[in-house]
Amino acid sequence: MAASFDPAASSYARFRPGYPPSAVSAALPPDAHRVLDLAAGTGKLTQSLIGRGLDVVAVEQLPGMLAELARLLPAAKAVLGSAEAIPLRDGIFDCVVVGQAFHWFDRDRALAEIARVLRPGGTLSLLWNHDDESDPLVRDVESELNRIGRPDGGASGRGLAHAGPASDRPPPPFGDHPALTDPVLIMIRWVRRTTIEDLVGLQQTYSYVISAERAARAELAEAVRGHARRRSGSDDGQLSVPAICEVWRSRCR
Ligand SMILES: C[S@@+](CC[C@H](N)C(=O)[O-])C[C@H]1O[C@@H](n2cnc3c(N)ncnc32)[C@H](O)[C@@H]1O
Repeated sequence: MAASFDPAASSYARFRPGYPPSAVSAALPPDAHRVLDLAAGTGKLTQSLIGRGLDVVAVEQLPGMLAELARLLPAAKAVLGSAEAIPLRDGIFDCVVVGQAFHWFDRDRALAEIARVLRPGGTLSLLWNHDDESDPLVRDVESELNRIGRPDGGASGRGLAHAGPASDRPPPPFGDHPALTDPVLIMIRWVRRTTIEDLVGLQQTYSYVISAERAARAELAEAVRGHARRRSGSDDGQLSVPAICEVWRSRCR
């Protein structure tokens, strides 16, 4: 399913939200200089890292996604490769960040590779954006997505029921891997401003929607447009969507 992103790379770049600056700050240790953005996609997170003057390498497994990243961020060091076989030298990064992608990895193989490229004491940070399910529009859109085959817990399988502020001590997504220690979860609340049509376009970028029948996709678009219009009630079609960015940070032994 992860390969489904490739032909939709330009829609991905256009409609997917980036990350709030406070979440990027939470992901980075204060002394970060060399950072690996692993599974970088079209560079949503890469862009924020480059904007902070960091020395960033972006690794991505799909050529179409990587080409979009290189087009949008010509200054980025963009490398084709997978999380399970990172084509880079040992111990060279202060920090590895993974945005919206760790759930796709073969976990143990990827963690061994991440630990290999991090320097001792380096940081691994995993980020996921979720729309806030306490919001009625978010619930309406998600019920439409459920109809088309949204996996339990959302696209990442890590919906807020598993990771949200309501859960006492959610288990770290990297489990109890021996290379990592001191896991911390930081939840950042933020608000996305979007147009109705961008909200409609965003739903079409999820892997299970990309893989659905054309008629089901069109039906989804119409249903989301209807919910968004009722919520907006304004002519300019702008909406505020409350969101939560889940940041898991851990240190390499
Ligand atoms: C939802 S996108 C996230 C992209 C980007 N990190 C972002 O925040 O927008 C997931 C990305 O993970 C990549 N991916 C999935 N499994 C991967 C793996 N094993 N190794 C490298 N990249 C992978 C996909 O190709 C896709 O570009």
